[in-house]
Amino acid sequence: MAVTRTFSIIKPDATRRNLTGAITKMLEDAGLRVVASKRIQMTKEQAEGFYAVHAERPFFNDLVSFMISGPVVVQVLEGEDAVKANRDVMGATNPADAAEGTIRKTFAESIEANSAHGSDSDENAAIEIAYFFKPEEIVG
Ligand code: CMP
Repeated sequence: MAVTRTFSIIKPDATRRNLTGAITKMLEDAGLRVVASKRIQMTKEQAEGFYAVHAERPFFNDLVSFMISGPVVVQVLEGEDAVKANRDVMGATNPADAAEGTIRKTFAESIEANSAHGSDSDENAAIEIAYFFKPEEIVG
């Protein structure tokens, strides 16, 4: 299996509860390496652009409002099959469906305030990484 990269966001519900370190430790324990990381306040335009694929969904406006309700930590993660490793440790989108020991089962408050985002494919990982990071900000 190849070493690949994925994109992660530690969401406002988690930064508000001071869970950045706890979530990062779970990512690292899952074999992922943080090769870029920054804490940012997303603008409305940034959040709308990032989640543009969901623009027609009924939850879109609430999702954007939530994502700009406080700081987030955007990260590039590297490891063996990083997209899958990250999604496995995050757990299901809805914490009610997430497996024991996953980030969302452990920390998420709701399907919206679900503590973490992770790319769903290598293709989207590349797009999402480029949305927030310049190549020189990623140090493997
Ligand atoms: P994320 O992995 O960041 O990708 C899109 C986000 O939309 C998802 O996590 C959830 O936080 C949110 N989301 C998905 N489905 C719903 C829903 N039915 N209601 C509210 N938010 C949702």
